[in-house]
Amino acid sequence: MRVALTYNLRREVKVGDNLPDDFYAECDGIETIEAVKNAILECHETAVMVEADEDAYEKLRALRPDIVFNMAEGLWGESREAQLPAMLEMLRIPYTGSSPLSLGLCLNKARAKEVLSHYGVPNSRFIVSDNPDFCFADRSRSNENFFPFPMIVKPLFEGSSKGIKNDSFVTCPAELETKVRSIVREYSQPALIEEYLSGREFTVALMGNGKTLKVLPIVEINYASLPAGVNHIYSYEAKWIFDRPDNPLDIFNCPAVLGEALKNEIEKTAMDAFGALSLRDWCRIDIRLDCKGAPNVIELNPLPGILADPKENSCFPKAARAAGLTFGGLVNGVIDAARVRYGL
Ligand SMILES: Nc1ncnc2c1ncn2[C@@H]1O[C@H](COP(=O)(O)OP(=O)(O)O)[C@@H](O)[C@H]1O
Ligand SMILES: [Mg+2]
Repeated sequence: MRVALTYNLRREVKVGDNLPDDFYAECDGIETIEAVKNAILECHETAVMVEADEDAYEKLRALRPDIVFNMAEGLWGESREAQLPAMLEMLRIPYTGSSPLSLGLCLNKARAKEVLSHYGVPNSRFIVSDNPDFCFADRSRSNENFFPFPMIVKPLFEGSSKGIKNDSFVTCPAELETKVRSIVREYSQPALIEEYLSGREFTVALMGNGKTLKVLPIVEINYASLPAGVNHIYSYEAKWIFDRPDNPLDIFNCPAVLGEALKNEIEKTAMDAFGALSLRDWCRIDIRLDCKGAPNVIELNPLPGILADPKENSCFPKAARAAGLTFGGLVNGVIDAARVRYGL
C-alpha cells in the first residue's frame, strides 16, 4: 500500500517566540519519525513523510495515499489533535487512529472525564478553574464537589506532562492558588484541579478494535526510582529532566507485578474507557488506584508517544516488546487495525 506518515516535528523554542519552553514537548523528534517511516517500509510500498503544517491539506490532496499513519499532535488550539484527521475525512483518505471528535475529547481532560463518568468508568472528582483569584478550597466547603487536599493541578488540555511539575501536587489553599495562577499565565488555559489518587500507577496500551481489541502487558510507574523527597507523580521533571538517555531512570516495570483480580480490573477499566470515548486502533490509558485500591482512569492518550530506541523509556513500545512485538510490529499492527476497519 502507498502509506503516508503525518507528524509534527519537535523544534527548539527561541527567545522572542513568546511560547512556553515545553511548547513542542508533545511533537516527535526526527529519529522517531524516521523509525516509524522505516517500520512502515518493512510492510508497505511507500511511506511518504508529510509534516502537519499549514500546507498539509494541499500536500495530502496531491499525494492521495491509500492510508495515513497519523501521529500529528497539532500545534495550535484546544482541538489541535483533531485537525489533521478532520482534513483527511474531508479528503476521504483513510487514516489510523481515532476520529477528530474522540481526539478532541481526550485532549480536554475534563470533557473526557465527563464522558467516562457517564459510562460509569471510575475517575477522580475534579473542578475546572480559570480564575486564580478564586480560592476554590475556601469556598468549596459548601460545594457538593468538595474533596480534600492533597490535590493535583494541571493544564486542562496538554500532554507529555506539560505544566505538571512537582508543584502540581498541592496540599493547601495557598499552593493551589499559586499553581492555578501559573497555569493560566503560562499555558493560557484553565487549570484542572483533581482529587489526588494515592495508590499505584499504571499505564495500559491497547491495540485493535471491538472483539479484537488487545490489552498489552501493563506498565507500572516505579516511584521508587524517583529522587528522594519528590512527590509521587509522573511529572515533567520525571519524564524529561530526571530521566535522560545517558542516565535512564528505572521508571517502568513491565509487565507489572499484579494479582490476577487486580490485573483483570485494570484491564477492564482500560477497555471500558476505550469504548466510552469511541477510540480506534490504539491508545495508551493512564490508570491509578485510589486510596481504596480501585483503578481510576487519569487520562487517555489516543496518539501515544512511541520512541523506537529500547534504551529510551517509552511506555507503548515497552508494552509491545513485552508482548513479543517489534517496533515494526507495533506500527504495522496499528495500520492493520485501521485497514480492517476500512475494509482495505
Ligand atoms: N488525579 C491524580 N491523582 C494522582 N496522580 C495524578 C493525578 N492526575 C495526574 N497525576 C499524576 O501526574 C501524571 C501526569 O498526569 P497526566 O494527566 O497523565 O498528564 P499528561 O497528559 O501530561 O501525561 C500522571 O502520570 C500521574 O502520575
Ligand atoms: Mg499521562
